[in-house]
Amino acid sequence: MDDKMDQCEFAHVPIVFLKVLKNIQVYPKKHPLISQSLDRFMALIQEHEGLSLEVNKGYLYVNTDRVEITAANYVFIRLTIQTFNIIELREVEFLTGLVEREHLYRFFSAMAKAKSYNELLALLEKEGVIGVITRRSSESSEEGVRERAKKLYFHTIKVIKSFFEGKKREASLIKMKAAASYLTDLLRHSEEALMGLTVIKNYDDYTYNHCLNVAILSLALAMRTGMERRLLVSLGTGALVHDIGKVKIPISIINKPNKLTDDDWMMVKRHPIEGLSMVLDQWGISRDIAHILPAIVEHHLGMNYFGYPEWLRKKETSILAGIIHVTDFYDAVTTPRVYNKRPMAPVEAMQYLLDNSGIRFNPVLVKLFLNVMGFYPVGSVVKLSTGEWAMVVEKPSHSSYLDRPVVVVVADENGDPLPPRKVSLEDGEVRIVGASSQSPWNMGLDPMEVALYSFEEQ
Ligand SMILES: [Fe+2]
Ligand SMILES: [Fe+2]
Repeated sequence: MDDKMDQCEFAHVPIVFLKVLKNIQVYPKKHPLISQSLDRFMALIQEHEGLSLEVNKGYLYVNTDRVEITAANYVFIRLTIQTFNIIELREVEFLTGLVEREHLYRFFSAMAKAKSYNELLALLEKEGVIGVITRRSSESSEEGVRERAKKLYFHTIKVIKSFFEGKKREASLIKMKAAASYLTDLLRHSEEALMGLTVIKNYDDYTYNHCLNVAILSLALAMRTGMERRLLVSLGTGALVHDIGKVKIPISIINKPNKLTDDDWMMVKRHPIEGLSMVLDQWGISRDIAHILPAIVEHHLGMNYFGYPEWLRKKETSILAGIIHVTDFYDAVTTPRVYNKRPMAPVEAMQYLLDNSGIRFNPVLVKLFLNVMGFYPVGSVVKLSTGEWAMVVEKPSHSSYLDRPVVVVVADENGDPLPPRKVSLEDGEVRIVGASSQSPWNMGLDPMEVALYSFEEQ
């Protein structure tokens, strides 16, 4: 290798990338040059625990590092940028542990054929390519990110539903891990957009929404611990299916409006164990699910021998289960249910977590969760300095403005409804002067409507 290339660890990535592409354009599938170049590319993905190539303002970035131009790679960088620009591709990411050799081949074949970004997407869809994420050049805007967040949110609900309904093909382990990876990726680019959607609680069956919200909140929390990507994907996957065992509980108990009997409780408390056996049934035993299983079995176990299954109580649970224990509590108590028509307001739920920090909940995780949610979590109903009432729809984009989120004004000072109006409190004079102890439902608001309105308004 050229000495100069050693200066940048990614200098040779565009060379390997283009070699695969050119070989696939020229040779038939079984040609040894194709398998050699694919093997090399696969090794790069594994070595760097995932690989992303991005073209931005005429430069090529690999895993967010600008690729240094050398005499040996100059032409390859130029050609890669050209190839991306022709089909309006801004970024492609190959996810480690998810993208298989065959899927890599299908991706490059699609790249070789596509004449536009839409054509590329259609080919990837047709070939069922998993583990490769693409982004169009125009998607860099905030609008593009919001659109992607919304699509991903509702698509993931469908994936969870398939899994809960026992559809093996549509909800294989690899598809669920892919969903967790996409969530991780989008959270990294724009946490605000996905977090804003967690106020949606009852779009379809409550449990699907709940599992998705718990996955988003858990990943946002875990990212603040510096957790490595592979473990993040396990956490996301575990969270997406953590309540699968509930399908074994009779619906009459799940939706019982009055107090549960001791026998009912016995049934409910079995769901982590039922979940474990269902996941094993569907996905079998593999190294891949080693971290996913404790996230399912231990998610109702807290510190100091708190929670269930009682026979599994221990001093320390897995970190993944500890995270889900916090986010699961938060999402559950802020959601209206048949037996709980007056859910907690987000600020009230945060206060409960703080009051029980170090008693039931891991104090470090509670602190990090506070950092994720901010002073006024999305879904909070707040009073503004103008006297008007508003719902928080987006966290502040900057940590120095923790008390200045984006809100949608919903009522005047007397509580009479106003046409919705989106306001960013980051600029201007308007401030929050207090938070209501009522959840949006108790004030006659549908948070899903408000959240989706805010997504349409710029
Ligand atoms: Fe649960
Ligand atoms: Fe749960």
